[in-house]
Amino acid sequence: MHQRIAIVTGSSSGIGKSFIELLANDNGEFFKSGFDEIWAVARREDALRELAASAGNGKVVPVVADLSDDCGIKIIEDRLKAEEPLVGLLINSAGMGVKGPVMDKPDKALSDTISINCSALSRMIRITAPYMRPDGNGNAKIINIASSAGFLPQPGFACYAASKSYVISFSRAMSCELKSRGIDVTAVCPGPVATDFQRRATDGKETDFTDWRKNFVIDPVKLSRKSLKASAKGRRMFVYPFSQKLLHLASKIVPVSWILAFESKAVNE
Ligand SMILES: NC(=O)c1ccc[n+]([C@@H]2O[C@H](COP(=O)([O-])OP(=O)(O)OC[C@H]3O[C@@H](n4cnc5c(N)ncnc54)[C@H](OP(=O)(O)O)[C@@H]3O)[C@@H](O)[C@H]2O)c1
Repeated sequence: MHQRIAIVTGSSSGIGKSFIELLANDNGEFFKSGFDEIWAVARREDALRELAASAGNGKVVPVVADLSDDCGIKIIEDRLKAEEPLVGLLINSAGMGVKGPVMDKPDKALSDTISINCSALSRMIRITAPYMRPDGNGNAKIINIASSAGFLPQPGFACYAASKSYVISFSRAMSCELKSRGIDVTAVCPGPVATDFQRRATDGKETDFTDWRKNFVIDPVKLSRKSLKASAKGRRMFVYPFSQKLLHLASKIVPVSWILAFESKAVNE
């Protein structure tokens, strides 16, 4: 009998960690039957071990992997090959961004953002989908954490916003390609979330969102819970909260040249 597992990348903190905590204690709120194991993927081994210990039921399995290079993906690929589990859920939450003009940032900031946000996310789907199929819980599920930053180009956060546009587009296309395999794909597009993200994106200069975004910050547990519900309904795209739905609508109707003119002014002030 194969183990039925979930895999969550980016689980050492923030949104990924919230997903793990909800899934480890799920009593039928999200899935009819719980997972035998939840593979918690990230680089920080201590944080993963702490998370596994606090879950307390032996379900959370730390998988230490750096997704910015091939070796990290191979660690997960080899483990899948060795254990041949049934994967009921894959959540791609690992991600990063570096704020500031591209020309002021090191090359590695660009390459890591693209590797983790785009390449690793795509390859995680590529290596995991062969182990996914519908079961007593219904279709297998993939949740990709995109961002409302992906709706529009963003001077001052250009590579991150473009990487999240990729996540939205790739998720939508994959939802069609994987449909016949009984796999649903949901792109989650939150606005600002209260995690370590902002501190890391600003190299420790800002621990919280400081500009107008601070009025729209949401709790990662709330976001994770709502995302699992949206995935259960088979939604392709989940934009949260309402303020980001308005932004999404605006991104469709306001000419990009106007938005860029406004953003350029803000960036050059
Ligand atoms: N917070 C926000 O405002 C916000 C808004 C919209 C979308 N998002 C997206 O939400 C996702 C989760 O971010 P978060 O807010 O939860 O931030 P976070 O607390 O900084 O979490 C990022 C996670 O990604 C992992 N990660 C980073 N680089 C990695 C690498 N090279 N290899 C493996 N794992 C790596 C980190 O683990 P290690 O450092 O241990 O490796 C950490 O677990 C990201 O995709 C982000 O773009 C965030």
